[in-house]
Amino acid sequence: MMDVIKNIGCLAQCRPEGGQGEIHPIYNAALVWQDDQIVWVGPEAELPGDFLFEQKLDAGGRMVLPGLIDCHTHLAFGGWRADEFEARLRGTSYLEIAKQGGGIQSTVNETRKATKEQLIQKCSGFLEQMTKLGVTTVECKSGYGLTVEDEIKLLEVYQELNQSQPLTIVPTFLGAHIVPTEYSDNRAEYIRLLTEEMLPRIGQQKLARFCDIFIEDTAYTMDEARQILSAAAECGLAVKVHADQLSDGGGSLLAAQLKAVSADHLEQISGAGIDAMAAADVVGVLLPLATLYTQQKPANARTLIERGLKVAVSTDFNPGSAPSYDLHLAMLLACNGCGMTPAEAVKAATLYAAQAIDMTDCIGSLEPGKRADFAVFDAESVNHWLYHFRPETCRMTVKKGRVIYRRGGI
Ligand code: NIG
Ligand code: FE
Repeated sequence: MMDVIKNIGCLAQCRPEGGQGEIHPIYNAALVWQDDQIVWVGPEAELPGDFLFEQKLDAGGRMVLPGLIDCHTHLAFGGWRADEFEARLRGTSYLEIAKQGGGIQSTVNETRKATKEQLIQKCSGFLEQMTKLGVTTVECKSGYGLTVEDEIKLLEVYQELNQSQPLTIVPTFLGAHIVPTEYSDNRAEYIRLLTEEMLPRIGQQKLARFCDIFIEDTAYTMDEARQILSAAAECGLAVKVHADQLSDGGGSLLAAQLKAVSADHLEQISGAGIDAMAAADVVGVLLPLATLYTQQKPANARTLIERGLKVAVSTDFNPGSAPSYDLHLAMLLACNGCGMTPAEAVKAATLYAAQAIDMTDCIGSLEPGKRADFAVFDAESVNHWLYHFRPETCRMTVKKGRVIYRRGGI
C-alpha cells in the first residue's frame, strides 16, 4: 500500500538538472510514496488511477519542498556564550575574544564537563525544534571535546541521536577545530594525537563520515591541514574545510586540491579559490547567520554562482558565531545578505546541501527512488515564503514517509 499527499499548490522538485535557481516547480501537484521511498510525483491531474492508497493527506493548496538539510552544525556543546555576544556588540571582535581565551576554548571547557546523557538531552531539544522548521537531515560536528575521550563522546552522542529521534544525523569529526590550550606550546603533539590516535579509532568504529578542519590564524595552518586531512582520507573519512572565514587563508584552494565535498564560510575567498572549487565541484557552503552574529560582511553568493560554484546554505549552529538553528532565517539572510534569489536559496538548502554531505543518492530532491523526506509550508511559492518571513510556516514534516510533525488543521 502507498501513501499520497494531494492538493499541493506548488511543489519544488529541486532535481540536479539546471543551475542554482532551477528548482523544477510543479503546480497543483501530488506526491506518492511507499514505506520510506518516493514512487511518483507530478501534476495531480496526471496521477495514475491504479495506485491504492492507505493514507491520503491534503496539503490544502500549500507548498511542498524536499525536507530541508542543515549541512553544517556544531550541534553538541556544553554551556552557552551569551556574554561574548554582549562583548562583541560593545566592540570586541570574535578573534579578539578567542585570543583572550574565550571563544571555542571556553565551550571546550564546558563540553568536557558535560556527560553524554546531558548532551543527548540538549541536542534532542534542538532537533525537535529543527523538525518544526521542516528540517529532516542535520550534519553535526564534534570539535568541542579535543581529547580522545571527549571527541568520541560527542560522536557517540550523534550515534545515539540517530537511533533515538527521527531526523538523520550525519556525523563529522572536527578534532582540528582549534589546538586546545594544554597543547598550545606543543602543537605537534596534538596533531599526532589527531592523526595517530583519534582518526584511526574514529575511522575503524565508523563514528564519522567526514573530517573537517578550521584553517585560520587562531586555529590551523595550511600545512597542518594538509597533513591532518590526508590522514583522515587514509582512515576512510571524506573531507570538509572551514575555509576563508575571517581571512583568506587559502582553505578553498586546499579543499579543491583534496577534492573535499565542501568548503564552508568563504566570506574572504579569493578569485582563484572560487575557480578551483568550481573546477573540482566542491560545494561552497554559506553560513549567513555566522556573518550576522560576527558582524562581518556576508559572502557574495552572486559571484560564486556566476563563476560556476554550487552554493549550499546552512545555519552553522554553535554557541559562539551562530547561536541559532533557524535554517529558514539563514535562507532569508542568504537572499537579503548574500544576494541569492529565493529559488537559489531553496536549492541551497536541499539538493546542494545534500551534495555537501555526499547524500544526493537518497535525499535533497523529490524524485522517484529517493527518500520520502519532505515538508509542507504555508506559502503559495518559494518567493512568497522567503519574502513574507514569519514563524511557524512549516505545517507538516514527513521523514522517511512518516509524519513526524504536524501543526494546525492539515
Ligand atoms: O563555524 N569557525 C569555526 N567554528 C565555528 C565557530 C565555533 C564557535 O565559535 O564556537 C564556526 O563559525
Ligand atoms: Fe562551523
